[in-house]
Amino acid sequence: MDIHEWEQRHIEAFYNVKETIPYLDGMFVAYNSNIDAIKHFAEADLSKLIGLFKETEIMERIETYPREIKDPIDFMARLLISMREGKAAEIPTYNSDIHEWLKEHLGFDYAHMGGQAGIISNLLSSLRLKKVVVYVPWLSQEQAKYFVDTDNLWHPKVENGKVCLKHPPEAFKPKIESKVNWILEYSKNLNVSCDGKNFKVPRDNRLIISSHPKWLRLDMEREIYEQLNSIFPIDGAMLSGYQLITEKYEDGSTYQDHVARSVQVIEKLKSLNPELRIHVELTSIQNRVIRKAILTEIVAKHVHSLGLDTVEIANALNVLGHEELSYSVIMKEEYGITSIYQGAVQLLKDLSLERVHVHSLGFYICILVKDHPLTLKEHRDFLLFSSTLAAAQAIRGNIGNFMEAEVGLEVPISSDGIEGLENFKIYCVGRKLCTLEEFESGYLYGPDHDAVIIPTKIVNKPKATVGIGDVISAGTFAAMVSKIKQKKIINSLPV
Ligand code: GLC
Repeated sequence: MDIHEWEQRHIEAFYNVKETIPYLDGMFVAYNSNIDAIKHFAEADLSKLIGLFKETEIMERIETYPREIKDPIDFMARLLISMREGKAAEIPTYNSDIHEWLKEHLGFDYAHMGGQAGIISNLLSSLRLKKVVVYVPWLSQEQAKYFVDTDNLWHPKVENGKVCLKHPPEAFKPKIESKVNWILEYSKNLNVSCDGKNFKVPRDNRLIISSHPKWLRLDMEREIYEQLNSIFPIDGAMLSGYQLITEKYEDGSTYQDHVARSVQVIEKLKSLNPELRIHVELTSIQNRVIRKAILTEIVAKHVHSLGLDTVEIANALNVLGHEELSYSVIMKEEYGITSIYQGAVQLLKDLSLERVHVHSLGFYICILVKDHPLTLKEHRDFLLFSSTLAAAQAIRGNIGNFMEAEVGLEVPISSDGIEGLENFKIYCVGRKLCTLEEFESGYLYGPDHDAVIIPTKIVNKPKATVGIGDVISAGTFAAMVSKIKQKKIINSLPV
């Protein structure tokens, strides 16, 4: 693949999308926002924490692969697993013990907006979409301060039984606590040594300890649901946070109640604008029952678009009964991209989606249904646009406006990404998914789907990795929805 050409395409795509964004009337974003307490690990921090335990105990706990954090050794085990593989993971904790322990023994560097809905709504408001309506069921006064202060960002609020739109600082619920997550960021090549085992961290990534306080409910107030028309006009919705649903609640309700209500919200949104596109952003979901319910009951048949990373593809395939494919995605050997591609195609089919967007280090793939209303070139522009956004986010840790996003254009395309794609090319051409020229353009034509693949920009020393995936998915999806809108407007103009 010709790097120079792809650099050029990034530039064109950035300005093409910038022109299209104003056509979008509005985006709805729900449900999860929280405060992220971010800590970058230095070797000294790590050895200090390891020194608090018997090293054999940590190693034994690693073998049990804890899926929730009940005590500090669970935490150490999951941290070392995440560092050993360089893979992001989000592990829940159901009490505040680990929070206190981390405050006492580690501390954090700074606090930031967290949660996919929080990160996405801040980004889209900063990119000057006409209107962004964010909904967070647990919007506390402190949390509200983490939203950007722009005149296009709104949150619904019930006043005397009537729903009106307010800016987040005027829409918070009094007497609500804030949800705080710990983000443990680590860098490539960090040396780790525990119980005689030594390794180097293979890539920049993070472990997230996600707090699940008992009062947390992924729900929508009745009045807001009933008067959902008051948030319109909107053209798209980006939904996330379903991982916070728990199997059973103290009040006797179960995950099924919450899943059913989530589906009602989606259906109501679509009934209010049949052309509305719905995107779900997946994340690490430890509980397999919940993971399966989210995929088969919320995503399948109800939403159009799914965004996820490679670990999440593997996890999704696993609960959908594709163990072998899941395993080969996770193994990431020479055939890594091929398995990711096959896995994403499988998800498109199993979940009856219109598009599946996978972001991986060095490349993105987007699988599309054959009859998608936009061209592959247009879809390629959306992916390239978000590659630039991701680079800007990695350098700056935050994107405040288009000018700050433009900084991403200066970041070079990853040569690792290009190399990985060269291997994939052999598979694609061999399987007649495309000609050599088509592959150079990033276009694939499967029997029952099309696909776009691009090499991406990679920042060597990112300020933080958390939230980059959300920026990628939000940039691409917003670009797509605005293009659909632009075409609709242009087609309806008198000739
Ligand atoms: C998840 C985490 C949140 C983090 C976000 C980044 O939502 O819970 O802490 O900010 O992912 O994608």
